Amino acid sequence: MNTKKKIVRGGTLVSATGITAGDLLIVGEKIAAQAAPGILDAAAVDEVIDAQGMLVLPGLIDPHVHFNSPFMGTVTVHDYENGTQAAAFGGVTTIIDFSTQPKGGSLLANLEQKEEEARGRTYIDWSMHGILLDAGTQTLAEIPELIQEGVPTYKCFTTYKHAQRMVQDDDIVALLEVTARHGGMLMVHCENDSIIEYSIRQALAAGNYAPIYHARTRPPEAENIAIQRVVDLMRQVTAPVYIVHTSTAQSVEIIAKARMDGLPLHSETCTHYLALTEEYLLGPKGNFYICSPPLRKQADVDALWQAARAGFLEVVSTDDAGVPPEDNLRLSQGRFDKTPNGIASIETRLDILHSEGVCKGKITWPQLVALTSTNPARLFGLYPQKGHLAPGADADLVLYNPNSKWIMGAEVLHMNTSFCPFEGWEISGQVDSVLVRGQDVIRNRKLVGQPGFGRRVFRRLEA
Ligand code: URP
Ligand code: ZN
Ligand code: ZN
Repeated sequence: MNTKKKIVRGGTLVSATGITAGDLLIVGEKIAAQAAPGILDAAAVDEVIDAQGMLVLPGLIDPHVHFNSPFMGTVTVHDYENGTQAAAFGGVTTIIDFSTQPKGGSLLANLEQKEEEARGRTYIDWSMHGILLDAGTQTLAEIPELIQEGVPTYKCFTTYKHAQRMVQDDDIVALLEVTARHGGMLMVHCENDSIIEYSIRQALAAGNYAPIYHARTRPPEAENIAIQRVVDLMRQVTAPVYIVHTSTAQSVEIIAKARMDGLPLHSETCTHYLALTEEYLLGPKGNFYICSPPLRKQADVDALWQAARAGFLEVVSTDDAGVPPEDNLRLSQGRFDKTPNGIASIETRLDILHSEGVCKGKITWPQLVALTSTNPARLFGLYPQKGHLAPGADADLVLYNPNSKWIMGAEVLHMNTSFCPFEGWEISGQVDSVLVRGQDVIRNRKLVGQPGFGRRVFRRLEA
């Protein structure tokens, strides 16, 4: 058992509610105390970690990643080892991946398999959500068991009919009903498939194959309508719902209204929707910016920042789902509709949110911590074990140097891909050190952790 005592000294502690100069005492895997600067007894501990000039944050949680995930003829670039290593370099101490129900099969069986894949391989802590492809008798019967297993959140799609992933309204109603009864949370990827399929047929008939037509054929309305539909269904059968990767200005209005009406509706956006516009689809690397929902316009980006600031968007995740660039090009055959969807960005979230958000006055540091650590911990049943710096919490910490200046690019990052969506961007701030449950994983920007140290986290939603 780890009983080592450490002091993190001289840093500035950032929480979701404020910023204060202070030191931390770590005993074993836990934070044991927060103290005024300099009062903890250095002679009584095994190690003093110098955090002078650093911001000390609770470790980031990424509740939306796709590791080793087959999709559209290829498999995502990150597995549990290289994905969690890159995550750690980006200040992430817990990820939540997905276990996908095989069509007509058992989600629980897949979960076992997927957990076996992760076990013994990760640098940081981890958990899974389910992905449900139907709401048949077996699926509905498995949901309470899933929740018992510490996996109380599961996602369905209102699109991707071509990949046999789409569910219908009656499935959503059944899923809401069982969710309400057993205390889970349904996550929904919201895009109206009929609008998309119709628009794709029109675009192809007109000979429009370029990446920008990915955005043109998945218009904001497709997302807005699908979110509105879920909200309308929730009014009939009320259960907690989390909308993944919200990307449009109008969708946040729908979400804000539903929340003000008292519905238990939650939502996230992702790093790329806050930092990139559809213009990137017109560039020479347009193919690699194809993700769903697609990148939007500047007015949407502005509305997302506003909603993140106001608290209507509660989480920023990455939706890390990059595919090998060579597979992207090979499978696309020059057509946007054949291009595998997904962008790798597991490592970039903290630096982009700092540079584009905090440094430009769009969010504050406490808001950044809320969006990336405290809120995901609370919403996904990791709190109070994770997501804050209070005594009793896991000692998951990031020491962040806000004054570092560097240029982001695939060469300097640690993601398993030669494509970086923010290639050449000037970044302010850099992760210096990361601890997971009191153990060094990154120290002075070097990897010192071990694959296999990461532990599966049992999740239970707050009542
Ligand atoms: O483009 C994306 N987002 N790919 C991953 C699958 C999903 O819809 O999250
Ligand atoms: Zn999705
Ligand atoms: Zn996703």
